[in-house]
Amino acid sequence: MSVSIIVGAQWGDEGKGKLVDLLTKEADIVARYQGGANAGHTLVIDGKKYVLHLIPSGILHPKAHCVIGNGVVIDPVALMEEIKMLEESGVSITGRLFISHRAHLIMPYHKLLDAARERENAAKEGGKAIGTTGRGIGPAYIDKASRSGIRIVDLLDRKRFAEKVRAKIAEVNNVLHKLYDYEQLDAEKIADEYCQFDTLIDPYITDTTLFLHEAIQSGKRILLEGAQGALLDVDHGTYPFVTSSNPTSGGACTGLGVPPTAISRIIGVVKAYSTRVGNGPFPTELENATGEDLRRIGHEFGATTGRPRRCGWLDAFALRYSVMVNGISEIALTKMDVLDSFDELKICTGYMLDGKALKGIPADAVTLERVEPVYETVKGWKSSLEGIRRYEDLPANAKAYIARIEELCGARVTIVSTSPSRDDTIIR
Ligand code: GDP
Ligand code: IMO
Ligand code: MG
Repeated sequence: MSVSIIVGAQWGDEGKGKLVDLLTKEADIVARYQGGANAGHTLVIDGKKYVLHLIPSGILHPKAHCVIGNGVVIDPVALMEEIKMLEESGVSITGRLFISHRAHLIMPYHKLLDAARERENAAKEGGKAIGTTGRGIGPAYIDKASRSGIRIVDLLDRKRFAEKVRAKIAEVNNVLHKLYDYEQLDAEKIADEYCQFDTLIDPYITDTTLFLHEAIQSGKRILLEGAQGALLDVDHGTYPFVTSSNPTSGGACTGLGVPPTAISRIIGVVKAYSTRVGNGPFPTELENATGEDLRRIGHEFGATTGRPRRCGWLDAFALRYSVMVNGISEIALTKMDVLDSFDELKICTGYMLDGKALKGIPADAVTLERVEPVYETVKGWKSSLEGIRRYEDLPANAKAYIARIEELCGARVTIVSTSPSRDDTIIR
């Protein structure tokens, strides 16, 4: 039995897409378990770049089957665009993509509510927007939790589906129109559009829970792909500056209906420094020339929204927490090559608050904003790691950086990535 979870260990954009694509070489099935088109997973194969938002990052391996699980919130527009992009690139989807009939749909009003609430938050005195991707994620998960969401399975009965859409739109029109001055939404038009979408996705819809259980029973090798990262987890992240799902490894079980007892391996993807898109506490952030260097060299601009990512030193204190809550047994360390030119590197080993060393990460964002990182300085390697594929070929200082990360985080670095390309990877 081999079921591995690939989880982002920081604030997302760690390089999960590259890792999942690489590991799919030895997998039969890749399944996404949460999030939606807020994700942007980049794959670079033979110099060609693909950015995936909803479809699992195993899709470029022709033999792999890909699953979008019940925990994912699906935007039909984004999904159809992605299928089109892949088919135009010569990637065949038919017979390889399986979408859970339990997954919730992102509706047009979710995106409108997402934008309206962000604007409202930003305008409040002392208020701060979360800096969401605007993909309707929060409002869709609100509906899911409040038991008023619309799921793929609802499309089966068109009459009942239209009734649900009508009821929901009567409710949101009130909010959108009265509170935010939006034009009234047309329920019939939206219901029609979703029914058209249904005919397009019909071949992919199935009971993915059953599909995965049968695959586990027959010994198939399965990768469970997380979106976002542990520090954006709605329970374990820097609340309220988080996404609305559970990117942590536990979310893989609920988001796919795969029991914890089936999991054999948990790989945490860690970027060799830190980045964050959107607002919220970021103790090791560098709002200076070094931060700008990291952004420029690492091309740190959002794969979904194009926003510049905030950059900073590696936060091993937060990573240790991430290793703990995810049960990470192995680390895949990415973007080491971005650090090539630095004389010195800093690693955060702890947080101080009001002169006291903290034992854990503060649960409250306001407190977390106030912590002061404790740094340890290590020497850079000052040579190019780009494209190195053997651990022995790494310079001594790069090996020392890796060893120190292992020590501070309590997990072994088994994979090191040295460029965006699929093949430029060291497997230890
Ligand atoms: P994801 O959301 O975790 O899949 O990560 P993103 O795709 O949003 O961001 C990671 C970015 O770093 C992408 O542009 C990747 O192509 C790139 N990348 C991944 N691994 C490496 C690496 O080892 N070195 C460099 N230079 N870039 C990398
Ligand atoms: P991948 O899978 C980085 C961030 C947003 C915002 C917060 C909430 O590519 O790593 P949301 O739209 O989810 O309600 O926004 O979460 N965010 C991400 N940051 N990578 C992602 O995905 C993200 N998905 C959401 O910037 O701060
Ligand atoms: Mg990304």
